[in-house]
Amino acid sequence: MSVFIAPSVLAADWGRLHEQIRLAEQAGADWLHLDVMDGHLVDNISFGPAFCECVARVATVPLDVHLMITRPDLYWQRFAKLAHNITIHVEADCDVAATLAAIRAAGCSAGISLKPGTPFARLEPFLGAVDLVLVMTVEPGYGGQPFMPEMMEKVRAAADRKRSGGFAYRIEVDGGINAKTGALSLEAGADTMVAGTSVFGATDMAAAISALRK
Ligand code: DX5
Ligand code: ZN
Repeated sequence: MSVFIAPSVLAADWGRLHEQIRLAEQAGADWLHLDVMDGHLVDNISFGPAFCECVARVATVPLDVHLMITRPDLYWQRFAKLAHNITIHVEADCDVAATLAAIRAAGCSAGISLKPGTPFARLEPFLGAVDLVLVMTVEPGYGGQPFMPEMMEKVRAAADRKRSGGFAYRIEVDGGINAKTGALSLEAGADTMVAGTSVFGATDMAAAISALRK
């Protein structure tokens, strides 16, 4: 699988949203990552469907929507038209399997994610029903936090189970990803990298993205 880089719009300057999206795309972004937070599943509130629609109006690359919300079953449909992928959390308070199936039935790809404190084994029942496994490499809620290297164990587990189970999901990492931690993630088996601060905070976004790809 070729490596995908998904800059996280959470770290962009929202006052210059259009320009920031163009810059990220010209710099080589494969996807744009959208972090939706509800203040319940995570300790922060970010943005919702209306903001994502603004992004969708200008973006030309596929949108990767990360729903850090307790009830994705009630809200995923609001993102279905604009998203290429919709990822929900295994810690959500809903029927996760049914929600993943509904996302796929709507024509989106479906992802499952887990927080740092949740063991990889919790994903086992869903591995055959997802297109993406998102391993959080920070406690979700805020950009700019330090990468947790101990999460590489889960990336390796995702890669091992993918091989042994004959699954086709992408393996994405999210949180504290830069050239150095991105290399560790690739080595562990990740193929998709979310990067907020290291891309939108860079003076040369194209250099930051190509450093991640290597
Ligand atoms: C964290 C979010 C991330 C965040 C990553 O809660 O899920 O997508 O934007 O930001 P950086 O790359 O700055 O850690
Ligand atoms: Zn995210």
